[in-house]
Amino acid sequence: MTTARSIPRSTIETARLRLRPTSAADARRAFEIQSDWNVTRMLSNACYPPNAHDIESWFSSHEREWAEGTAYRFAIEQGEGVIGVVDVDGIAGSNGSLGYWLESPSWGKGYAFEAAQALIGFVFSEVGLLTLESGHAADNPASGRVLTRLGFTPIASRELFSRARRETIVQCCYTLGRGSTLCSQ
Ligand SMILES: CC(C)(COP(=O)(O)OP(=O)(O)OC[C@H]1O[C@@H](n2cnc3c(N)ncnc32)[C@H](O)[C@@H]1OP(=O)(O)O)[C@@H](O)C(=O)NCCC(=O)NCCS
Repeated sequence: MTTARSIPRSTIETARLRLRPTSAADARRAFEIQSDWNVTRMLSNACYPPNAHDIESWFSSHEREWAEGTAYRFAIEQGEGVIGVVDVDGIAGSNGSLGYWLESPSWGKGYAFEAAQALIGFVFSEVGLLTLESGHAADNPASGRVLTRLGFTPIASRELFSRARRETIVQCCYTLGRGSTLCSQ
């Protein structure tokens, strides 16, 4: 397994997208995207309305997380603009957690699948992770479809407090092993 500190902060190109490691400068665009209730209500740990200071401080921590090997987060660029974020965080040992969110005008074009597939290839082949977990709110079938297309297997449901909704929701939980995806190398 490659040591975390030796992994360069390089971009990943896909057929239609460019995944660029996030930096503090991405906070403003993220604030715009998370100002859309239909985006933020689906996120497990975001506030609504979004708090600009919290988002800035979160993005400011990304370079350090990368250097420590605890999270790899990418801005999803399509053409000239940032349309969302895809990340693997909570890395402990050889396991991490996949997340993604897109501006609503970019939904329904296969971008989440394309971005997540590329990131999965990166964390399995470059970072050396062996397993990923992910999850979605029970009322977010589009995200469930993204996960199953990626090869994730549903494992359980659990109750989770949604900060954005300010209520407890049901989250569907999934897992993916390096050997069980087309993305593995
Ligand atoms: C969930 C989200 C990432 C999906 O992004 P996307 O780029 O539209 O996803 P894709 O186009 O790759 O795939 C969506 C799939 O869900 C399907 N889908 C969309 N709405 C659906 C619905 N209501 N019920 C069932 N399937 C649905 C689409 O048909 C597509 O399936 P296909 O791959 O078989 O064609 C995007 O809607 C989003 O950012 N939502 C807000 C934030 C969020 O939910 N993040 C994930 C948190 S778990």
